[in-house]
Amino acid sequence: MKFPPWTSVSEAARLLKAGEVVAIPTETVYGLAGNAFEPKALAKIFAAKERPTFDPLIVHIADIAQLTDIAKDIPDSAYRLAEAYWPGPMTIILPKKDCIPDLCTSALPSVAVRFPSHPIAQAIIKESGLPLAAPSANLFKHVSPTTAEHVAAQLADRIAGIVDGGPCSVGVESSIISLTGEKPTVLRPGAITPEMFAKVLGDVAIKESTSKPGQPMLAPGQCDTHYRPQVPLYYGEIPVGYTLPEHTVRIAFGTQAGPIPATVNLSATGDMVEATSKLYAFMHDLDKTEYDLILVDPIPNTGVGMALNDRLKRASIKRL
Ligand code: TXA
Ligand code: MG
Repeated sequence: MKFPPWTSVSEAARLLKAGEVVAIPTETVYGLAGNAFEPKALAKIFAAKERPTFDPLIVHIADIAQLTDIAKDIPDSAYRLAEAYWPGPMTIILPKKDCIPDLCTSALPSVAVRFPSHPIAQAIIKESGLPLAAPSANLFKHVSPTTAEHVAAQLADRIAGIVDGGPCSVGVESSIISLTGEKPTVLRPGAITPEMFAKVLGDVAIKESTSKPGQPMLAPGQCDTHYRPQVPLYYGEIPVGYTLPEHTVRIAFGTQAGPIPATVNLSATGDMVEATSKLYAFMHDLDKTEYDLILVDPIPNTGVGMALNDRLKRASIKRL
């Protein structure tokens, strides 16, 4: 096999139909895709990522009509959300059909569905003719990949192919909303903000994630260390009198003053969308043994900033 296993759209579709797993670009992060109907392909996804099977997968479609292949008892609210924000960075939780294997949903009676906007993701789903289960294409608990090179660095020797679609435009995982309870509930913040959900649905609830080891994860990152780089990253106030290690680097945001000069800036103008598209790439770039500590400037906890704060809090060590 050539290495890394760079793959074309049609070769990816062929491999997926043959039950293999292939990394594909989406607008949020790269996904590790496999046939959502095929337990053996799903098992390969869990094995390649070293992901525990209590963490369920998102199923990707390329047409709203495909929803009925996967989900049942679909409420009108799902179609209203789909009209507003699909294709795009939104995942909807719905009651699952029996054809979706338990391995895909960690035996939950519900399934997570997303219609990505990335043209290459859509082309691969269409050409394979399959709904594709795809978690982020990283090892479990590592930072999600936003370039094909990030995928290759972690998974090249474990998977059948990688399709390079360039850097991801959104840069954090999709917003997840559950429509299975009494009230629509946001399980994971992302680029579709609670305000955007409320605009379509009226009132929405936001779930605070709590850890329940061994139970199916209803929202990701219930493991506290979910998005953690190897170099300690700290997101919070620096205690008075604390001496920074010699090789500290700083991910700045906007023009705020920091304890050391900015190493990189998420957005010089304080643009939250630009910051989102760059955060994981910076976390990958600065995750080098020559550094002792990564500091990140505070980011307002509003709009898509809620997704950044959520990921940064999980990535951060608890104290300096
Ligand atoms: O943007 C994204 O969503 C990316 C790209 C590849 O589409 N995928 C992604 O997948 O972030 P992953 O595996 O990293 O996150 C999937 C999360 C799980 O951790 C789980 O908490 C939630 O989706 N999930 C999946 N099925 C669920 C279900 N039936 N009920 C509640 N949450 C579910
Ligand atoms: Mg993930």
